[in-house]
Order: sequence, then C-alpha cells, then structure tokens
Amino acid sequence: MSQTHSPTNTIVTDKFVTLLSDAEVSQIEAEILLLPDRRSAAIDALKIVQEHRGWVSDESLVAVATLLNMSSEELDGIATFYNLIYRKPVGEKVVLFCDSVSCWLMGGDDVCKRVQATLGVAYGETTADGKYTLLPVTCLGDCDHAPAMMVGDELHHDLTPESVEEILK
Ligand code: FES
Repeated sequence: MSQTHSPTNTIVTDKFVTLLSDAEVSQIEAEILLLPDRRSAAIDALKIVQEHRGWVSDESLVAVATLLNMSSEELDGIATFYNLIYRKPVGEKVVLFCDSVSCWLMGGDDVCKRVQATLGVAYGETTADGKYTLLPVTCLGDCDHAPAMMVGDELHHDLTPESVEEILK
C-alpha cells in the first residue's frame, strides 16, 4: 500500500496502519472527524489502541503515528507524558495508587506498603498470575477522601491498610 500524506481528516493508508484492526482505525477516524486536525486525536487514538490491546507496543505506536500524519517520536513523547498510556504489557487490571500530597498526608505510604505486600509487587511490577500491575499516579481528584487508588475502572477511597487487603482479595 502506498502512503498518502493528507493535511486533515482524510483516511491515510500505509503498511504500518495495517497493523491496526479495522475497528481501531474506524474508531480513530471517528475521533479525528470531531477535531480540527488529525494530530489532535493523538491521546484518543492511543487510548483506543490500549482499549483493544491492553497496552501500546512500539509497532502500534508507529501505526497510530502514521495514521495521524505525525512522527513516531512526537507521538511517543505524548504517550510518555500521559502516564495512563501503558507502553509495556500490564496485568488484567492496573492498580493506580495516588502518591500525591493529600494521600501521603493521610497515611498513603502505609496503605501503599500494604498494597505492595498483598500483591507481592513493587511499583511498576505485575503479579505473577498476571492479574494486577501496580503503578503510582498523580492526584486522582479525590483528595477529600484520601488515600485513594483505582483498581481497573473503580475508584476506592478513604483507604486503610485493612481495607486495601479486602479490596484486592
Ligand atoms: S492527592 Fe490523592 S487523590 Fe488527590
């Protein structure tokens, strides 16, 4: 297939883009139609690929960059800056533990130690059964109920060492 460089809102075909599924490409193209230019869809496109694959591999990133008419280096910079785009394989659920100040003041360190002990992993690691990956995250916006963490799509707050054991059972 040949590569077509088009300025805005035109479907681009390229050998790299074929690494994406038809569903991924059509969802990304639908996002692009809502935006002023293709590059503005960078985060949404990465999220779409992550929803389908669980994470964004180098190959997927190059495919998305091609689809958006941008360099893979530029897109990788965006993906790295946005810490909810996973550039390595993760477990079935990602545990995002807030390590910002309100949670820390409310005993977040002790709670996080219990999370790590319960799962048997440190930050950045995945449990041996592949179920959980533990990652630190900046403020989850639930400071009134600190400490807080996300387990998959679920927000848990007012955490204690005891409650996190229950949640992760
Ligand atoms: S500081 Fe943890 S939720 Fe805001």
